[in-house]
Amino acid sequence: MATFPLPPTDQGHGDVSWTEAQSAEIEGMIARYPEKRAAVMPVLWLAQDHFGWLSLDVLRLVAKTLELPPSHVLSVATFYTMFKKQPTGTHLLQVCHTLSCDLAGAEGLITRIQNKLGIKVGETTADGKFTLQRVECLAACGSGPMMQVGTDYYELLKDDTAIDAVLDALASDNPPSLPRPEMDQWTYTRKS
Ligand code: FES
Repeated sequence: MATFPLPPTDQGHGDVSWTEAQSAEIEGMIARYPEKRAAVMPVLWLAQDHFGWLSLDVLRLVAKTLELPPSHVLSVATFYTMFKKQPTGTHLLQVCHTLSCDLAGAEGLITRIQNKLGIKVGETTADGKFTLQRVECLAACGSGPMMQVGTDYYELLKDDTAIDAVLDALASDNPPSLPRPEMDQWTYTRKS
């Protein structure tokens, strides 16, 4: 049933490299830590921002940059659900299905999303807007069922009205910016 962690696919980016500005940024990241290897998380994050997702080609570039075994970088990338190991739609819907959210109705949330978007877990809509994944606990256990979309948390998605409101907002080309007064009770963003 679970589709996470997703292994890197055979698809790749080919020959990848950093821009001059990215190389400088990475040097700054490395300088913040006593060991080069400690910068693996921020460098992976930068790589994902730049390349869209973390193919084996990109993971090898990160490994080479930090002088780490590729297996180490792969193990970090596959541990965290925030790192994409395959291309996804514009909006990656990561629904928590761990115990607290499960008891609060995570399966209902997943079913509603599947029915509304016409996709199964692990699939992307034909228009490329949404990809649906199951993930483990996202540390919002007290307000489940919940899902993460990008860097935003959508919580207390207990009924179809709440779920549909979020999906409709995301589907529009001009989704409401957070905070949204009418949605305050079930939204939270980690962005400032
Ligand atoms: Fe879902 Fe923790 S169980 S956020």
